[in-house]
Amino acid sequence: MTFIPDAFKERYLPLVDDEDAFLASLEVLLPKSFRVNTLKSNADEVKARFAGYGITINQMPWYQEAFVSENPDIGATLEHFTGAIYMQELVSMLPPLLIREQLKDARFVLDACAAPGSKTTQLAALMDNKGVIVANDASYSRTRALKFNLEKTGTINSIITNQDLRNFPHMQFDAILVDAPCSAEGTIRKNDKLFSEWSEKSIFSQSRLQKQLITKAFELLTPGGTMIYSTCTFAPEENEAVVDWLLQSYPDAVIEPIPEMEGLKLSHPVEEWKGATFNAWVRNTRRIWPHHNNTGGFYLAKVRK
Ligand SMILES: C[S@@+](CC[C@H](N)C(=O)[O-])C[C@H]1O[C@@H](n2cnc3c(N)ncnc32)[C@H](O)[C@@H]1O
Repeated sequence: MTFIPDAFKERYLPLVDDEDAFLASLEVLLPKSFRVNTLKSNADEVKARFAGYGITINQMPWYQEAFVSENPDIGATLEHFTGAIYMQELVSMLPPLLIREQLKDARFVLDACAAPGSKTTQLAALMDNKGVIVANDASYSRTRALKFNLEKTGTINSIITNQDLRNFPHMQFDAILVDAPCSAEGTIRKNDKLFSEWSEKSIFSQSRLQKQLITKAFELLTPGGTMIYSTCTFAPEENEAVVDWLLQSYPDAVIEPIPEMEGLKLSHPVEEWKGATFNAWVRNTRRIWPHHNNTGGFYLAKVRK
């Protein structure tokens, strides 16, 4: 049984609709999921191949390239080895998907915190390898994994940069992903060591960094451009409070609604936290709780300049 700190329960149980289901979901290992890489294959081809192997896979109604399987052999298939599929958490597929329309005519796209490249490779697939993606990450060691994944997936429209986003030179991008470094509370189902390092202090320090990252990314956005801010954590300090901070710094930022997706339950954000009420625009952002869709936890905000 996973040890869950009391302070964690005190913070989040009041926010969920079903305390028992939420706590129970944190004990269950995340099912394997993958995305079909349309630069190398397509959903029908992969379905036929896996049927041939006798591996059951389930297609998600909200994204035809997204599949889940209980079979541990997925990672040992030729499709995984050749980059025809990419092992990726379901919720991690949402940020690129939310700017799918914008990507069709985007010339310059920034993946501001890109490594190891789950979302960069998905962006490239959605752009059909057209336009240019700047895939940036502050960690040199992680950019090596990013490089490997770009090569493996056949991504040829991406340039890697290794910068702290806060020092990024002034350029303009049509679309930006800020998949922020975070306390990763929503990944507990695949990381049982998470709570050994969990502290409120670390949440506050991540929040300070995230506020700097979101405002810097907004400055790099072309007027009319769209940015997705996402985290895999539950802490309102790292989610709603960061979007609220952006709106305080740039009152002209527009927080667009996150559209409904068939078969995926999205939840309303937190409107008040520790005595503070967030800007009303923050209500357009969405949370994903692990017990609703059998996924990790996630947060999404869609921002237009
Ligand atoms: C959640 S992970 C990104 C995962 C990635 N988007 C993907 O889908 O594969 C956050 C990343 O932010 C990077 N990071 C942390 N601080 C940063 C900063 N100041 N500027 C740019 N990247 C940063 C970390 O090295 C880490 O790789």
